[in-house]
Amino acid sequence: KGKFTYDPGFVSTASCESKITYIDGGAGILLHRGYPIEQLAENSDFLETSYLLLHGELPTQEEKDKFVNTITHHTMVHEQLAQFFKGFRRDAHPMAVMIGVVGALSAFYHDSLDINDARHREIAAHRLIAKMPTLAAMVYKYNIGQPFMYPRNDLGYSENFLHMMFNTPCEEKEVNPVLARAMDKIFLLHADHEQNASTSTVRMAGSTGANPYACIASGIAALWGPAHGGANEAVLRMLDEIGDETQIDKYLAKAKDKNDPFRLMGFGHRVYKSYDPRATVMKKTCDEVLAELGLEDDPQLKMAMKLEKIALEDEYFKSRGLYPNVDFYSGIILKAIGIPTELFTVIFATGRTPGWIAHWNEMLANDYRIARPRQLYTGYAKRDYPKK
Ligand code: CMC
Repeated sequence: KGKFTYDPGFVSTASCESKITYIDGGAGILLHRGYPIEQLAENSDFLETSYLLLHGELPTQEEKDKFVNTITHHTMVHEQLAQFFKGFRRDAHPMAVMIGVVGALSAFYHDSLDINDARHREIAAHRLIAKMPTLAAMVYKYNIGQPFMYPRNDLGYSENFLHMMFNTPCEEKEVNPVLARAMDKIFLLHADHEQNASTSTVRMAGSTGANPYACIASGIAALWGPAHGGANEAVLRMLDEIGDETQIDKYLAKAKDKNDPFRLMGFGHRVYKSYDPRATVMKKTCDEVLAELGLEDDPQLKMAMKLEKIALEDEYFKSRGLYPNVDFYSGIILKAIGIPTELFTVIFATGRTPGWIAHWNEMLANDYRIARPRQLYTGYAKRDYPKK
């Protein structure tokens, strides 16, 4: 079509070269820096995987300790940022607040805005990974009208997040280690996924020379939509809408009806046309969490499992390679842990932060040009302004 390749949705256009993540969607393979996601989920943890994504290699024990220590000591946010929250309505959607507060980090941390200075870039990376869970928990506390909880340096990354979410100054309980591990796995499984819409957005914003906090805020904005990170939230809303097991067939018929906009949320993926390998790990974690909390008989969760089973056997879904994706199970786990639905995509953003930064760094370290797609113009030819 004319001078340009026309590829809406970037279905067959590579926007960059990358050494970070490899996906074979047909075979259901996901590798970070060469390591299979299943092995990372089994043996690594979120911060170690973040280090791997950022640096290209797994850390030695000494490097890991130093990295964890640095992240831990960056978890607090500027005290004035707490005032910034007060400008939002209490019932604001957490993603709306996150876009604002993460972008606003560039107004608070002037020592990490120079994208041409490697030390600035490193500090920004540490700050962002460290502060995302603190900000996420602050959004939640602000929504429910409770005081913000400070992070604790004696807790691990995911444990600390659950502490800031569910403890109060009046009552500090130990975080359940099974839930902390599940939380860590959710962060880890979301850590990177090559050139998805939000990562491409981060690269695109970065290609203009924008500062790292602004770039990550743009990634959060792109993640918000229900076709991307908003899907885990959409899964729970869908389960609410379906109601009970007797309605499953009706909703499956709606999902298959091309005149009905309803889609089975948490099913299908642009790249995976077989099982999403992250979903396999997530399903196992889901079973562990439900067993730990004694929720195996929860009617909604049982209905979700039945829906999954029926869809997996259905010819419509089979023939189109539509399998449950990572968000189908992450939504169920998060609900079981007690995380409110509106916060699900914020959790996704927290997990995806190291991936976004790794891609932003990779772009800056290589030759890059401002991302500037072309278009096929289909509007009016030149015409004259009507004479008065
Ligand atoms: N329910 C019913 N039909 C579906 C679904 C679904 N969830 N997903 C795809 N289809 C059908 C679609 O109608 C089309 O059918 P046909 O060939 O007859 O026209 C076929 O499957 C191919 O779908 P597509 O829309 O061309 O595929 P895509 O690659 O453009 O979209 C997707 C991928 C993830 C946006 C889509 O599968 C979807 O909307 N899924 C539900 C939302 C969701 O779970 N998103 C999370 C993705 S994983 C997390 C992340 O990476 O952000």
